[in-house]
Amino acid sequence: MTRGLFISFEGIDGAGKSTHIEGVAALLRAAGRTVVLTREPGGTPLSEKLRALVLHEPMDALTEALLMFAARREHLVQVIEPALTRGEVVLCDRFTDATFAYQGGGRGFDWGVLAQLEAMVQDLGQGGLRQPDLTVWFDLDPAIAAERLASARVPDKFESQPADFFAAVRAGYARRAAEMPKRFACVDAARSREAVWAEVERLMAPVIAGAWA
Ligand code: TYD
Repeated sequence: MTRGLFISFEGIDGAGKSTHIEGVAALLRAAGRTVVLTREPGGTPLSEKLRALVLHEPMDALTEALLMFAARREHLVQVIEPALTRGEVVLCDRFTDATFAYQGGGRGFDWGVLAQLEAMVQDLGQGGLRQPDLTVWFDLDPAIAAERLASARVPDKFESQPADFFAAVRAGYARRAAEMPKRFACVDAARSREAVWAEVERLMAPVIAGAWA
């Protein structure tokens, strides 16, 4: 059976990841893979309820981190892990790196506490923690992201944060990528949509060829 594959997509708000995830799903489906397209916080009925709370209600930083990880645990157990066991490709719009970037970097919440929560939530009793096989990080200057977002929809709790918050989120992603360089692919998202897509397509070539190690 084909091995399951877990790919996450990350970046600050406005970096353009959501557009490209759809493209990746279409590409992999055309190549004959079964794709589960999902997101965090969210991805199960309960996790989507937690999403609505955490994106719109003001709350204490630890409460926020706990809710992100509570939503994640449900998502992992109910959706992600079963799909990987079936040999499918899971494409996840944000995963734990977003918690390190937003709650750790952006909010300045304790990195070590987040690592403890990660160790609890992503331990599925298989030895080691469940992590994405590949994380595509759309990296973008917060000033450019803000320009792109200005013409978009009504902002949620995070999207309405000031530019220095996103500079700290970006630094959080960079720290996380430095800690786990093997699974991170950094895509320069400042270029045109076409140029970014060409690079994403290149990253997917080994996945499509079934040669992803
Ligand atoms: P986002 O992924 O941008 O979805 P949409 O494009 O539908 O708005 O929104 C999710 C928001 O949640 C985003 O601002 C980042 C934030 N977030 C965290 O702060 N921590 C997390 O662990 C996750 C997964 C998301």
